[in-house]
Amino acid sequence: MVKDAFDRSWIGLGPRVNEFETAWSRFIGCRTAIGLNSATAALHLALRVFKFPKGKKVLVPSLTFSATASAVLYNDLVPVFVDSDPITLGISLEDLNNKFDSDCVAVIPVHYCGHPVPMDELIPWAEERNLKIIEDCAHTAGTLYKGKTLGTWGDIGCFSFEEKKCLTTGDGGMICSNDSELLKDVKAMRWVGIDKDNWKKAREYVNENIDAMHWFYELNILGWKYNMNDLAASIGLAQLKKLPEMNKRRSEIIHKYLDGINDLKGINPLLPYDPENYSYQMFGIRCIKKNELIIFLKSKGIATGCHYTPLTMQPLFKPYASRCQVAETEYFKLITLPLHADLTTQETDYVIEALQVFDRNHN
Ligand SMILES: Cc1ncc(COP(=O)(O)O)c(C=O)c1O
Repeated sequence: MVKDAFDRSWIGLGPRVNEFETAWSRFIGCRTAIGLNSATAALHLALRVFKFPKGKKVLVPSLTFSATASAVLYNDLVPVFVDSDPITLGISLEDLNNKFDSDCVAVIPVHYCGHPVPMDELIPWAEERNLKIIEDCAHTAGTLYKGKTLGTWGDIGCFSFEEKKCLTTGDGGMICSNDSELLKDVKAMRWVGIDKDNWKKAREYVNENIDAMHWFYELNILGWKYNMNDLAASIGLAQLKKLPEMNKRRSEIIHKYLDGINDLKGINPLLPYDPENYSYQMFGIRCIKKNELIIFLKSKGIATGCHYTPLTMQPLFKPYASRCQVAETEYFKLITLPLHADLTTQETDYVIEALQVFDRNHN
């Protein structure tokens, strides 16, 4: 696939991007999917298409990656930070109610680690308040929730194909919707404002049947350089074939982690993982002795992460901070562990053993 893009001497925005968009929209079951260079770009444009008046508010979780809230600032809107559910650490429906006011225009639920936000409850709540719903699906790729794929419940779904994600193209993203009219300007927005098919234009340069104006395009809309390219799309098409298998492997690893830590006293799963039904991008634990455990795992050559420092604790977002007690408390216990489709059984066992040794020595 990748070689094919090189052989065609066309690795920019071209036919492979179209193919990947079609394959992706079929895979998740949505009408329109547009390939971008990141989920950050997708979130930016997702808010942009609604043309919300400057200064309106958007509800976002505090426990998320910067992009979820930065996209709000890119659009001259105001992020309103919502606390996490204490069990799932996803956006708290109770705190949404507390934080909502009549200036809110949208909500961005994040399927944290891949665990579904209860969209069947969120949607009627949001619709009653006239809020647009943009799903941040950076941690999920193909999970069905109550018979419907995550990313197709809200008005728009935004996916990430960054290097650590369930499907990767190195960097990449997809903006998806069942409302094609809503995304009608996104192809121009992702391609510096040009709404002409780039690949078609290139072929027309040497087609004698086409008039001399093949080079012409009009700029009617402000655009960004956010397009996916054919190299990334070729990788995406190859990855998509393997995605069900890779999601299955991640689930097997999570099963193993859950079994391995089941009896530990001071280490608990980060959330109520349900690998039978959902696929996850991240596996994490909660441990009161977070820093000691991180250092211990480091000494064993095991890499860890912390996803995330709540955005309400980040200097950039402090001016918008509001009370998010669960996120800001649980953050002190939160550790993410190695999880990827190529993690071997021996490697997983090695991590589990280290967790068991630590727990024995500290409890
Ligand atoms: C929750 C969340 N949203 C958005 C993004 C942004 O994705 P990208 O790196 O594709 O811009 C990430 C990236 O890790 C993420 O974790």
